[in-house]
Amino acid sequence: MYQAPRGTADILPQEQAYWRYVEEKAARICQLYGYERIDFPAFEDAGLFHRSVGEGTDVVDKEMYTFEDRGGSHLALVPEGTASVCRAYVQHGLHNLQQPVKLYYFTSVFRYDRPQAGRYRQHHQFGYEAIGDADPALDAEVIDMAWQFYRSLGLTRLALHLNSIGCKACRPNYLTVLKEYYAKQGGQLCPDCNTRAARNTLRLLDCKKQSCQTIAAAAPKSIDFLCADCAEHFNLLQKYLGLLSIPFALNHRLVRGLDYYARTVFEIQPEEEGGQSTLGGGGRYDGLIEELGGNPTPAIGMATGMERIIINLKKYNISVPPLPGTRVFLAYLGDEARNEIIKLGSMLRQSGIEVIEAFGSKSLKGQMRHANTLGVRYAVIIGDDEVKNGTAVFRDMTSAQQETVSLARLPELLK
Ligand code: HAM
Repeated sequence: MYQAPRGTADILPQEQAYWRYVEEKAARICQLYGYERIDFPAFEDAGLFHRSVGEGTDVVDKEMYTFEDRGGSHLALVPEGTASVCRAYVQHGLHNLQQPVKLYYFTSVFRYDRPQAGRYRQHHQFGYEAIGDADPALDAEVIDMAWQFYRSLGLTRLALHLNSIGCKACRPNYLTVLKEYYAKQGGQLCPDCNTRAARNTLRLLDCKKQSCQTIAAAAPKSIDFLCADCAEHFNLLQKYLGLLSIPFALNHRLVRGLDYYARTVFEIQPEEEGGQSTLGGGGRYDGLIEELGGNPTPAIGMATGMERIIINLKKYNISVPPLPGTRVFLAYLGDEARNEIIKLGSMLRQSGIEVIEAFGSKSLKGQMRHANTLGVRYAVIIGDDEVKNGTAVFRDMTSAQQETVSLARLPELLK
């Protein structure tokens, strides 16, 4: 028997109400903040991610699904959405529009991760990007939008972690000091951190191993090495978050796993959980558009995992509205009635009424049982007598009351 590949999942009908709920809240929040939808391909030139997410990151080095297609192109299933949105921004000359350009997306994301609760090889993200403005008020708005989005879902016990990792001008100084600090730790780092130490020193700060965490806690902080512009940017962001009454914790170990970030980085987590449970995260990536061949263009965005949101909705017993069901079930007895039902089903659907028809040779009792399990509001039953008289039995499934009505009246009754 075939199984869905490890780390992937089917989303069965009984789960869909959660997905629809989250998607609708996401689309609404985007409308409230002036974002427009963009969709991009499920695969891209693999080079796009080497360029943006970065060589030496886990996402590119260890987790990317790459393949050569039959034409010899080197492609990758998208391991995140930001690079694709920026590629589209440059490709379609979106710098010609009023800036910032605000775009949101839902996408499948593919990462060859070690599957565990809340961690999959194919997951789904809702993300949004605001491209073309460096104002820290935009950073505050992007964070506020995430905060209000989670609130609108009913997720309120959240913690916002915030950091600034500086820009091209000031980060090199910080990295020098950080490297010196780590060089002094000798053999105490885990093997992963030892290999990362030279290539991606920032990532040592967010190693999950307990021994490395102790070392990271005492490490120099990026915010102490910010240039004047970055420091002012970060101060203003904190002031604006204050104006918005959004509580945050400065977390100097928050660096994020993707290379394109500059200045603001943030993550939102459920209050009482650890690192694996991050609901969403993002930050500024002021150099990325230029890296991809566009003009120098500041930008910021964020993405959140749909599966992790749904896990939290369930954990906190947040009920979601059921999806609209089917209004009517059509049951029949006999061949003539069968013909009537086929015509009636088509007619009702064309008047905008949702219909499920009985098929096969089930008894009337069996058909009614079927209607009951479907949870339909009404059933329409046609037998030989009804065929002769041009009528149908119209049954309210909740009250179990029924009456005989003319076929012509049915659309009006059902509406
Ligand atoms: P990310 O932090 O890599 O950021 O992913 C965003 C969110 O996707 C995470 O916070 C988490 O909820 C979810 N997620 C990540 N990996 C998995 C996984 N293996 N299984 C389930 N859920 C997962 C980005 O992807 C950036 N593009 C965010 C961004 C947008 N930054 C700027 N703009």
